[in-house]
Amino acid sequence: MTRRNFLFGLGGAAAATAVYMRYVEPEWLEVNIRRIDIGLKSRGLRVLHLSDLHVSRRISTDYICEAIKSGLQLRPDIILITGDFYTSGDENPQDLSSRVLPLLTGGTPIYAVFGNHDGGRWAHRRGGYDSTAELQEMLEDAGVKLLHNAAERIQHKGVELEIVGVGDYWGDEFLPAEAFAGLSDARPPRVVLSHNPDGKEDLAAYEWDLMLSGHTHGGQLSLPLVGAPFAPVRDKRFIAGVYSWRGRQMHISKGIGNMRGLRLGCRPEVSLLELV
Ligand SMILES: [Fe+2]
Repeated sequence: MTRRNFLFGLGGAAAATAVYMRYVEPEWLEVNIRRIDIGLKSRGLRVLHLSDLHVSRRISTDYICEAIKSGLQLRPDIILITGDFYTSGDENPQDLSSRVLPLLTGGTPIYAVFGNHDGGRWAHRRGGYDSTAELQEMLEDAGVKLLHNAAERIQHKGVELEIVGVGDYWGDEFLPAEAFAGLSDARPPRVVLSHNPDGKEDLAAYEWDLMLSGHTHGGQLSLPLVGAPFAPVRDKRFIAGVYSWRGRQMHISKGIGNMRGLRLGCRPEVSLLELV
């Protein structure tokens, strides 16, 4: 092979990779079904875990809607959403309220927490909303119950479960003491919703069995041998999938949307968690 041919091939591979990470992988959805044992005494519960929708002008709303429909086809018992409905500075509230949220009004109970992009101090510093009030109203109108440093015990199809939601870890809204206040030690299995998985150390002082998070986008750019150097978390051991940690479990979703329209080596996902 001549040097010229080699360089030509290298340039072609780089161009193909750029096209793939911009136009193929960001909308190449995975539908993952995972079984997680959290000691439910009755029959299992099917939880659709959605995260990081990032409804924005940069991401096709058609794609986001199709991703959610793929999850709904799995007929979940409940839906849990771990934040980043928006991308701060590029929010698309029109599409969120008129096209995305209406998909979620089929009668399935839905609980959610905010992510760092959804409003507040962190988002505002990046050109986003300074408050989550409008989004909260939109979620309530759509029947999505926000658990902002709050908890709720649910009974659904004979299964009892506690769901605890904390505010965003980067947004100075992360108040586990408030979220867990009043919960008793005599409890059913407990699921915590925390957008950012780095919140786990602060949450370790409280009792829970499973934490659902997003935020990492699976690293967004993830390479063999190199890993995911750009994952926006302190603890890069926990990027995507199911993990055991200090006798508890975590599920970290790669999310539906992305930042800057790029993904490599970490396809977007919706996840059905079969809790048993
Ligand atoms: Fe995100």
